[in-house]
Amino acid sequence: MKNDAATLTSPDALYEVLQERLDDPHEVDLRRKANLAAEINQLKKERNAVILGHNYMEPALFQTIPDYTGSSLELSRLAAEAEADTIVFCGVRFMAETAKIVNPNKTVLLPAEEAGCSLAESITAEDVRQLRKRYPGVPIVTYVNTYADVKAESDICCTSSNAAAVVESLDSDQVIFIPDEFLAQNVAQETGKDILFPQKRERKGATGGDGAPAEDLDADMIGWEGRCVVHEMFQVDDIKQAREEHPDTVVLAHPECSPEVVEEADHSGSTSSMIDYVENTDAESYLLLTECSMGENIMGSNPEKDMLKMCWQRCPHMNEITLQDTRRNLANNQYQIEIDEEVRQGALEAVERMLEIG
Ligand code: 13P
Ligand code: SF4
Repeated sequence: MKNDAATLTSPDALYEVLQERLDDPHEVDLRRKANLAAEINQLKKERNAVILGHNYMEPALFQTIPDYTGSSLELSRLAAEAEADTIVFCGVRFMAETAKIVNPNKTVLLPAEEAGCSLAESITAEDVRQLRKRYPGVPIVTYVNTYADVKAESDICCTSSNAAAVVESLDSDQVIFIPDEFLAQNVAQETGKDILFPQKRERKGATGGDGAPAEDLDADMIGWEGRCVVHEMFQVDDIKQAREEHPDTVVLAHPECSPEVVEEADHSGSTSSMIDYVENTDAESYLLLTECSMGENIMGSNPEKDMLKMCWQRCPHMNEITLQDTRRNLANNQYQIEIDEEVRQGALEAVERMLEIG
């Protein structure tokens, strides 16, 4: 989504935006945040830079400096169309890498070097090569929450917006879906497929080895045991307790939550799908089972909506991105994303196949 405030360079104007759009306009450091945002928006002009901001960014940053905000899929598409010389990615490393994969000649900056992702760290390129050896000819669908070298070993990427469509687009009886265990189970449920996790079976003592055991050959989907540190924490009891206190609340869960949580929720979808759902329905209140900043970000443009807060689970990686770091690193032209050209080419094929699916 386009953010008009991102063109403002006056601290007073940005202070007004923050007062209008934030949940707590009495926060004492709003002036300081408005000043930082004004400096960043000025620097962007001088550098011919564009800022892409994920829906999980902290509210003051989200409302003031990204020229565009969105889900991973929307930001990948925007990155592919970007005309600016520099793309600053206010999100996590795998997202900035995707921007570089589709824009090798642009400077892509990630404002905090440490902004990783537990899913991206759960699998390596060597793991994918081993899977290919073990299941020859089976297409590999890789969640976009992975690093470029893992994407390069894959056939096609997906995001939480298009995972089921990507799996269904493949002309194959069997699909490998990595690395998110819960997203894979939710996609299997949605597409009516059964799924097997070889790592779980091997832990129970069955033999592994290079060749796939006979029972793997019957499974429609082969999964991996990666998890999101935020979404794996939500439990069905959280939903039940919230409904006891707020019987008319509508519960939305990201598909990185467990299948039991997704089943109990009223709606499940990508970050942007949850935003659309809230904007286009009229419930008493909403509870989002996802990174907590998003609830406040939605209220910025929908002040009449009542969002219940459940903020005990934060994404430590998304929260690395601050206004201070963005200003400093845009000024110093760091941290630049670099990807080996052969890896980039391989990853580009997997990302472009996904983007073609729509
Ligand atoms: P979306 O693709 O739904 O924006 O989510 C990305 C993510 O990291 C969720 O944890
Ligand atoms: Fe990764 Fe989870 Fe953070 Fe999303 S919320 S960036 S999946 S750790």
